[in-house]
Amino acid sequence: MACYVNNHPLVQDALSTLRRTTTTTEQFRKATKRISNLLIAETTRNIRTVPITVETSLGIADGFTIASNVVFVPILRAGLGMLDVALELIPTARVGYIGLERDEATATAATYYTKLPNDLASSQVFVLDPMLATSGSAVSAIDILRKVGATDCHLICIIAAKDGIKTFENCHPNVPVYTSAVDPTLNEQQYIVPGLGDFGDKLYGTS
Ligand code: PRP
Ligand code: URA
Repeated sequence: MACYVNNHPLVQDALSTLRRTTTTTEQFRKATKRISNLLIAETTRNIRTVPITVETSLGIADGFTIASNVVFVPILRAGLGMLDVALELIPTARVGYIGLERDEATATAATYYTKLPNDLASSQVFVLDPMLATSGSAVSAIDILRKVGATDCHLICIIAAKDGIKTFENCHPNVPVYTSAVDPTLNEQQYIVPGLGDFGDKLYGTS
């Protein structure tokens, strides 16, 4: 499996805004959109296209259009912060939802909602979840997608923990991970350190 870290300065600038404790909810939402746009654009670099010709006002231009059956799957709730941008980039994409929540005490993820499009076997599936800590949520999400036939899966996150990546890699060696940072550790509550805290709480102003 591959883990790709996007070191683009614009990505890293948005990441610092997300991490900073003084960032307001409004600034956090804007930075989430900014970083998601850049990460998703890079992650989808190899999606399938078909050649087309386009009539311009002065002639015929060769071009491409997106051919693949793209599906975005945000993990509720924090992954929703990445969805609007994903659909702006690929408006023809379909969307599946997987609701997972970590138990505060055990950090184990439990599924509370699943709604997925048909034909995942022939789709390129991009899972959106900003935080990969223990990787329990990401592993469960891919397990669910595999069970309904998805084979071409990708995981896009904003911060991943080093050990979480290792665990994910062991469980799903064929699913590449795209991220903007690999952080060194988890604390006792299985939060990423230095990380940014609870992404969902920061995005929605809860605590
Ligand atoms: C967060 C985050 C990931 C998960 C990562 O979700 O959005 O889904 O934790 O942790 P893991 O790698 O250890 O599973 P959370 O369960 O807090 O739910 P929320 O998005 O509803 O806030
Ligand atoms: N979920 C978060 O939102 N942040 C973490 O650091 C770990 C899990």
